[in-house]
Amino acid sequence: MSNPFSRNKLNIDTEVHCHILPTIGCDPEFTNQALEVIKYFQNYDVNTVYVTPHVRLTRPSNTHQSILERADVFKKQIVENKIKVTLEVVAEYYLDEGLSDLIDNEKLLTYPESHVLIELPLRNKPDNLDDIIKKLCAKGYKPIIAHPELHHYLRYDWKMIADLKGQGCLFQLNLIDMAGYFGEDVVVAAENLLRAKTYDLMGTGAHSREQLRLIDEQILQNKDYITLLRNENFKNKMFSKEESFMSKFWKK
Ligand SMILES: [Fe+2]
Repeated sequence: MSNPFSRNKLNIDTEVHCHILPTIGCDPEFTNQALEVIKYFQNYDVNTVYVTPHVRLTRPSNTHQSILERADVFKKQIVENKIKVTLEVVAEYYLDEGLSDLIDNEKLLTYPESHVLIELPLRNKPDNLDDIIKKLCAKGYKPIIAHPELHHYLRYDWKMIADLKGQGCLFQLNLIDMAGYFGEDVVVAAENLLRAKTYDLMGTGAHSREQLRLIDEQILQNKDYITLLRNENFKNKMFSKEESFMSKFWKK
């Protein structure tokens, strides 16, 4: 199986969105599968993987503290298995009634330079969308809107997309959506958003090795998709934790 991040394919060295962080004390098979996914990324030149557990009111066990503890355990397992990938942890924050309090009271788990992954409700535009985006920006955060292709009220509303971009939001494609996991209407929406140059970042959105396999079959074996994706100027590299060749050179 080839890999979505192969330099020969999409030239992406940083995975920005996946849900493979094991819980503490989980079935060892789940950890083994997560390690397999990390190895899979390593084999194809991905140097940095961000895991993005959901933070939302309906998942009260996913606190910042529990997520960081889980990431510490998983990082040790990655080192023990001699896998040369840097694991980073952020959260995928769902825009519910709890997010405003979190912004007020806690430091959010972010990518470099305070970029923060935000998931919008699936079907209806939330009334507080503008307020939350303004609040995030006022606190110095830079919102990244996860998988707009999934959202009925957003994916064809070019004005809303332009407004959000105008406020500084970035947009992130999930390859699992483009692979057809959530149906044909989502695939068509992702293609349209790609052609409209909407996306800034690309991640898999994968929860398992089976989903990576689906991405491989549906996207990497499709020359039209490869061309479409390679024509994008994805900015994943800005979140890479590997020193650039030049910075290593100058240190010598
Ligand atoms: Fe996600």
